[in-house]
Amino acid sequence: NYYAVLMAGGVGSRFWPVSTPEFPKQFHDMLGTGETLVQKTFTRLSRLIPKENILILTNDKYCDILKEQLPMITNEQIVLEPEMRNTAPCILYASLKIKKKNPNAVMIVAPSDHWIEDEVQFAANLQRAFDACEADQVLMTLGIIPTFPNTGYGYIEYNKLDTRQVKKVVQFREKPDYQTAKTFIQRRNFLWNSGIFVWNVQAILTAFEKFQPEMVQLFQSGYERFNTSNEQEFIIENYQKASNISIDYAVMEKADNVFVLPATFDWNDLGTWGSLYDKLPKDTCDNAVVNGNLFVENATNNIVRTNSNKLVVIGGLDDFIIVDKDDVLLIYPKKKEQDIKQIVAKINENK
Ligand code: GDD
Ligand code: MG
Repeated sequence: NYYAVLMAGGVGSRFWPVSTPEFPKQFHDMLGTGETLVQKTFTRLSRLIPKENILILTNDKYCDILKEQLPMITNEQIVLEPEMRNTAPCILYASLKIKKKNPNAVMIVAPSDHWIEDEVQFAANLQRAFDACEADQVLMTLGIIPTFPNTGYGYIEYNKLDTRQVKKVVQFREKPDYQTAKTFIQRRNFLWNSGIFVWNVQAILTAFEKFQPEMVQLFQSGYERFNTSNEQEFIIENYQKASNISIDYAVMEKADNVFVLPATFDWNDLGTWGSLYDKLPKDTCDNAVVNGNLFVENATNNIVRTNSNKLVVIGGLDDFIIVDKDDVLLIYPKKKEQDIKQIVAKINENK
């Protein structure tokens, strides 16, 4: 009965120049382990879920890349979106498809671009979440203990007095402002939303019917074409009519049957060069390198990446991002990593 929905349609613009709209981060080996993020996520999920029950949704321009990286998946497992519509339409569409195959399905929805090292704990947590969602009409998220007021995440308040492993959620707040995030963290009964969700297919469809009835109506109109050779035609005609909204705003903030399982695996939303740096092994001067041989003189806290194994010599440089790609060389202070998104936009404007 287990199914998975792998969301692989994002752009990852702060990882420029490695991540680009033509070839975004989930399709790169960001960690230098020999596997891309989407490959790692697929392997992680297939520990508990039959491979053929894993659906992958991405933009149609990434079709060839996806098939090349996951040659074991069939066309029936791939949904190609004609336009980006964020995660709510993606999840609703996948859930309807799964329902048609198996109305009793229990499913996990997973982003394709996270760093999770402890695969054993991940599998144990997932099994726990599956068990809790098998019979109950609940929407489960995996929660992460927050370390700073990150405004790019969703926050989950749980009932302090609830000592059970799976806790009832009091409120779900997507991307609060900095002050609010700060007070949430001080109150101590808040977790970050990992963006990994678990539920049975009936529970999520009931929630969509309640909170996004128009979207349900739109996609439901193609129901008899799902999982047939006429399906892609339906998607091309209708997918972009759905509103552009994330599952967090569309459903999770509104529902009152949300539960959280605090995760016991390490988690990092690989969003920026700095977050990657935090996770990589360092040399004695705290420099991290993905691909490349580093020779340093008085240089500390840098992250270096090349696309070959070339020798990189750096001296007298601290806290920098150095990324060498065929057509681009980026040398940028780590402290200003959030600006990379805007810089890329500016460069594209001037093209
Ligand atoms: N197929 C598809 N189509 N996938 C998409 C689309 C889309 O239109 N948009 C985004 N995705 C994928 C991304 O590739 C990523 O794997 C995942 O969906 C989440 O999207 P993000 O755009 O990265 O979301 P976020 O980081 O702003 O916020 C979410 O994740 C946080 C944790 O990383 C929220 O769920 C937050 O609440 C959460 O804290
Ligand atoms: Mg993200």
